[in-house]
Formats: sequence, structure tokens, C-alpha cells
Amino acid sequence: MPDRRPENMERITTPALAEAFIEEQLKELRAQIGDKKVLLALSGGVDSSVVAALLIKAVGQQLVCVHVNHGLLRKGEPEQVISVFRDTLGANLIYVDAVDRFLDKLAGISDPEQKRHIIGEEFIDVFADEARKLDGVDFLAQGTIWPDILESEGGIKAHHNAGGLPEDIASRFELVEPVKILFKDEVREVGRALGLPANMVDRQPFPGPGLGVRCPGAITRDRLEAVRESDAILREEFAKNGLEGKVWQYFTVVPDFKSTGVKDGKRTFDWPCIIRAINTTDVMEVTVEHLPAELIDHLVRRITTEVPGINRVLFDYTPKPPATVEYE
Ligand code: XMP
Repeated sequence: MPDRRPENMERITTPALAEAFIEEQLKELRAQIGDKKVLLALSGGVDSSVVAALLIKAVGQQLVCVHVNHGLLRKGEPEQVISVFRDTLGANLIYVDAVDRFLDKLAGISDPEQKRHIIGEEFIDVFADEARKLDGVDFLAQGTIWPDILESEGGIKAHHNAGGLPEDIASRFELVEPVKILFKDEVREVGRALGLPANMVDRQPFPGPGLGVRCPGAITRDRLEAVRESDAILREEFAKNGLEGKVWQYFTVVPDFKSTGVKDGKRTFDWPCIIRAINTTDVMEVTVEHLPAELIDHLVRRITTEVPGINRVLFDYTPKPPATVEYE
């Protein structure tokens, strides 16, 4: 695999081109890894999922996947990772339930940057703890893609590499980055050719700090649950209404204030749920998706009746700029 994307490289836009890339990669991965073991942090996002599927094909049980549940994942995500990778593809998968560890550390922390920092640090700690328990692992696989490398070269963001890991762990591993010369749409094409489920390959972007940034201020378990449940309803309704895969990103936010409502003739004092659905090509500028009126009514009804703690639904119709996509 070249270190950089060759200038004349043909864009992988068809199943046949994806198959050819996969065949080439399998040969290279087997030559690089031999009979050694490889470790991978498998979030269930597109990039790490495609890397996992490639490595399972290339080296089977020599791959050790670690899936960390930090409590900020969407409804059904840990279950899908286990079902696809362990049950269907037969991967060697370590599932780490770190929910209490993360949520305890985050309790009472309201500053957005501090929240992000804690989530990032804690993730590295949990992963490093798992890595230390394993013997004879020489390689660390990562879902680095070509835009990550371009952005880190341009100083826009540091691309997630072994640099984040403590020295005793980082120095043990050689990196394996089988999709690093691919653009996102090419990674998706390769994922489809590898037989990953469509809802995994075509997933909308999801921030590393997960639902944590959609539960603004200090995260509490009950408000986080309201974010998770309302997000699940929104995703279900978008799928039913043919909007999945058409709208670039859509999610709910449950802010930390309450307002008065009425239910079954009794006063309520609960949170609002904000719905945000947006489109973009470059993420620098974002426009709002205008939803059909019936869908809006239906979402309001479902969320206020099915999600505990919500008595009001608001729609965020603000483009970027002036607002960012996420609230924190
Ligand atoms: P903003 O809020 O900056 O978001 O307009 C732009 C896009 O980036 C995603 N996002 C993140 N992704 N880690 C990520 O991996 C993060 O910390 C993060 N913050 C924002 C966001 O969901 C949107 O698609």
C-alpha cells in the first residue's frame, strides 16, 4: 500500500473496483501481518467497521477487536456491533462495558471542552487497559482515511493515531491502516462489497463524544436516556419516510432546562426535545432540511408520548453559519 494516495488513482465507484481493491489489500495484509495478532478499536462507525471486515477476511482469528461502550452510543449500536462482528462474521471481539466508568467521570461536568477531554482520555485509558491484558499482539489497526491525513497535514485536526496512546502501549505496535488512501465514499463502496449491512455502511456522521454533545451541560443518566430514545424515534421515522441516506445528518438534543406542560389533566414540568436535520457538502456550510408537515406532527406526538421527561418538541431551523451542527 502506498503511503500517499497516487495522483492518478481511479476513484472506487463500482463493486468491481471495490473487489479489486479488496483482493489487493488482502494480499498485502497477509504479507504484512503473517501469523501475528492485530488489535483494533471497533466503534461500529464506517471506517473501523470496514477495517474490521477486511482484517477478518485477511487474518480471521488473529484480529482482536475491542468495542468500548462509553454509554454515549445510540440505541442498539453495541448490540449491532456484537451481532454483525461476533455472531455473523465470527470475529474475536472483546466487549467492554465502560458505561459507569464514563458517566461517573462526567457527572457534574458542564464545560463542553472538559467533557470532550474526559471522554477522549477515558477512551484511551480503557483501550490501553485492554491492550495491556493481551500478549503477543504486534499490530494496531486503525480506520484512518485519506481526508484524515490531509486534514492533519493542513493543521485542521490531529488525525487519530497511536500518538494518543501511552508510550508503553504505542511503542509495542506497528500500525496497519488498510483504508488510509481512500475517500469516505470509497470506504463505503468497499464496505458494501465486503457485505456489511447497509445501515452500517451508509451511517450518518456521528461525533466521537457521541450523545454526550447532545446532552448539553452536565450529563445526567435520565436526560441522556431522553436523548437516546428520541434519537431512536427520529431515526426510525426518517427510515420509514425514505429520508435515511437522503438527509446528511439528523439528531435530537435535550437541553438542560424545563418548561411547564400538561398531560392527562395534570401539570408537567419537563425538558424540551430539539430536532435538527441538516444537509451539507463540505460541513463548513450547512442548510436545514424542511420536513413534511405530517412528519413533524407525527414526530411531536411520538416523542412527547413515548419519551419519559419530554413535554415539548422544538425544531432547529438554523443554518451554519451562524450555528454549528452540534450544540457543544
Ligand atoms: P460542527 O458542530 O463543528 O460539526 O459544525 C461538523 C460535523 O462534525 C461532527 N463532529 C464531530 N465529529 N468528533 C467527531 O468525530 C467530534 O468531536 C465532533 N464534533 C462535531 C458533527 O457531528 C458534524 O457532522
